[in-house]
Amino acid sequence: MNQAYSLPFVTIGKDVTIWPLAKIVMPNRISIGDSVIIDDFVFIMGGVATRIGSFVHIGSFTSITGGGELILEDFSGISGGVRVYTGNEDYTGGCMTNPTVPEPFRKPVRSSVVIKKHAIVGANSVILPGVVIGEGAVVGANSLVTKDCKPWTVYFGSPAKELKRRKMEIILDLEEKLRETLYDSQGCYISQTIREQNKLTDGIQ
Ligand SMILES: CC(C)(COP(=O)(O)OP(=O)(O)OC[C@H]1O[C@@H](n2cnc3c(N)ncnc32)[C@H](O)[C@@H]1OP(=O)(O)O)[C@@H](O)C(=O)NCCC(=O)NCCS
Repeated sequence: MNQAYSLPFVTIGKDVTIWPLAKIVMPNRISIGDSVIIDDFVFIMGGVATRIGSFVHIGSFTSITGGGELILEDFSGISGGVRVYTGNEDYTGGCMTNPTVPEPFRKPVRSSVVIKKHAIVGANSVILPGVVIGEGAVVGANSLVTKDCKPWTVYFGSPAKELKRRKMEIILDLEEKLRETLYDSQGCYISQTIREQNKLTDGIQ
């Protein structure tokens, strides 16, 4: 059963699938655009705020935790087994460090992670708090991202380092064509159902 339309999200668009074994905590902090898929065994903690754009996929066994803010822009993707942390314990300072310990004995830091348009994070990578993964950037499988990633650049490794540039023009051109097809003149996404109905009507005329 698709959970997308039974949870109290801030906003939810059309054609969203959240598979039944995904676990969403604090949906009242989460907004979701159109055409989104969240696989089984994904764990998302809404935190301060979680904003998921349109045409976004989150793969199985990915977790989003830390209590901060996450922004996943349109056409971005997170592969399987990824760990996104939007907040952190103070690992190296002089305080205690886990959620069983109350403040002020512990100093958790709430932060944010931003994954920009067309960026994609490969399987089993770890994204630490405070990071911005630039537009169209690629994070290879098994990477540890500790710093911002430049737009349209491929990274991999632990810590993640630049490998090469990614082609931007073709992807932006494809986006433009997709928007011409799947959005109406007011810029609203046309759902799959309406598209199928339109096809039938066009066939009759
Ligand atoms: C990073 C990545 C995008 C690079 O792809 P690519 O441009 O085709 O790179 P290549 O395969 O030519 O590899 C270039 C070099 O980097 C190494 N390399 C590639 N990806 C790596 C990774 N994730 N970690 C460590 N090394 C990696 C290769 O072994 C190769 O090394 P060599 O030159 O010594 O032989 C790709 O390897 C990757 O990790 N993709 C993520 C895939 C994924 O997670 N899919 C999940 C399902 S969607």
